Amino acid sequence: MTIEFRDVHASYDANTPILRGVSFTVNDGEFVAFVGTNGAGKSTTMRLVNGLMKPESGEVLIDGVPTTQLKTSELARRVGFLFQNPDSQICCNTVREELLFGFRALKMDMDDAARRVDGIIAEFGFNPDDDPFLLNRGTRQLLALASIVVLETPVVVLDEPTTGLDFRECVKVMDIIRRLHERGTTVVMVCHDMEVVADFAERVIVMSDGLVVDQGPTFEVLRNRRTLEAASLVPPQIVDISLALQLMDPALVESPIARANTLAELYAAIAPDAQAVSFEGVAR
Ligand SMILES: Nc1ncnc2c1ncn2[C@@H]1O[C@H](COP(=O)(O)OP(=O)(O)OP(=O)(O)O)[C@@H](O)[C@H]1O
Ligand SMILES: [Mg+2]
Repeated sequence: MTIEFRDVHASYDANTPILRGVSFTVNDGEFVAFVGTNGAGKSTTMRLVNGLMKPESGEVLIDGVPTTQLKTSELARRVGFLFQNPDSQICCNTVREELLFGFRALKMDMDDAARRVDGIIAEFGFNPDDDPFLLNRGTRQLLALASIVVLETPVVVLDEPTTGLDFRECVKVMDIIRRLHERGTTVVMVCHDMEVVADFAERVIVMSDGLVVDQGPTFEVLRNRRTLEAASLVPPQIVDISLALQLMDPALVESPIARANTLAELYAAIAPDAQAVSFEGVAR
């Protein structure tokens, strides 16, 4: 399922334009990250994707159909949405009820719902009778994510799914998102953590002050100094190192060391033979 923005203008009140002509396309099955400074308009853009907001001018198209022509329930069946704060999403007294909520709201088949909810409870290791509000922050975030995953929408929109999580929780959340993407779900994720963006996103869209200022394959964008400065982005550490190496020695610009995008590529560039040494070999 594709998402297309055509010259979208949007605001919360008529006097303060927030999105000022946003255009982009997310293709079917893609994993795209939105990055940019606080207040750039990323969450507003996400609200337009799931129809919580409608454009003042321009068009938001889901598989070619303008969101203005889709009912809220029709949109919700197509686009799963994880809010920036999971607590604005959680509303039921038990984990099980929370996971069933979307099915009830969308008037979907409840036998099928019960089966899928049981599956997700087992997969995530939840206790179905827990009170969601008594869970810790990371588990509440996982529950909010699970309540979207369980609906099996063709598109998921995730507004900062890893913010506020510790490393272990972050790995867990991103593993679930990666598996969703592998199953063919179109994933749109707002994220401030460039390490996460570098590890998971195929393409990056950079926003600043209500506009898209750059977009392209992840590492093309994350290695572009002008983009990094314009959007105050801290690149992934490995890109930072390779950009710094180029500044120190311009002769390195063409070397694989300066073009490494991942730790594995950097190791391979420094010592091509190192790959031949396996951990097993080292252990012996
Ligand atoms: N409900 C609202 N009412 C009025 N103004 C809003 C509302 N939500 C956001 N804004 C304003 O719209 C602008 C864009 O906000 P938005 O939340 O889309 O940015 P963002 O890129 O998601 O930022 P962050 O990285 O902080 O989450 C900001 O200036 C913000 O103050
Ligand atoms: Mg936001």
